[in-house]
Amino acid sequence: MKMSVFRTIMALLLVVAAASCDRDRKHPGWDYFPDMAYSNAYETWSPNEIFTDGKTNQSPVEGTVSRDALPFSYGTSPGERTRAGRELSNPLEATDDNLGRGSEVYKAFCTGCHGEKGDGQGHLVTSGVYKYPVRTLVSDEMKNRPDGEIFHSITLGFGVMGAHGFMIRPEDRWKAILYIRKELQK
Ligand code: HEC
Repeated sequence: MKMSVFRTIMALLLVVAAASCDRDRKHPGWDYFPDMAYSNAYETWSPNEIFTDGKTNQSPVEGTVSRDALPFSYGTSPGERTRAGRELSNPLEATDDNLGRGSEVYKAFCTGCHGEKGDGQGHLVTSGVYKYPVRTLVSDEMKNRPDGEIFHSITLGFGVMGAHGFMIRPEDRWKAILYIRKELQK
């Protein structure tokens, strides 16, 4: 008796399971918890009748900058790099905390090309994936390169090296420079 009840339930479940599959992809069938499939929130790029320009993704208010952003009013030319070297100096001290953070930043963003030792032999270079000649950061020339020039190179890029300013906060850039100075160039 018990067995037949069990079989009936299993057979019913099978029918339900089979019926919930739909071969027609344009009509996916019933939604379970539809609020998860169809978000009530506005998506970044969805139209929006609340704002006068009809967009959800609003531009920043004119004349404002985002939190943690510092104005960096230098162009990309070599002359501008020299000017940054003259005018900017590292505002941070080489404390253990700052060097620790600098090491994290360096390892996350620079090691791939410039290498763990800063000698330009990162794994992207040694594996042949990255084709451009990468510069060493530990030469005497680099030891004499002003902090502000290195900050400029990280922020806006240098030659074929891309800009990293939009992905690394200003103070993390200065911390990476502390790390290069104290741990790699020693
Ligand atoms: C994708 C590879 C790549 C990454 C990642 C990268 N660099 Fe570079 N970097 C280069 C290349 C290539 C050059 C040389 C560009 C040239 O000569 O045109 C360079 C040049 C530089 C220079 C200029 C050297 C000089 O002679 O003044 C500095 C400073 C520098 N990189 C620092 C960094 C730091 C710090 C990071 C991490 C925040 C970093 N780079 C991330 C590839 C990279």
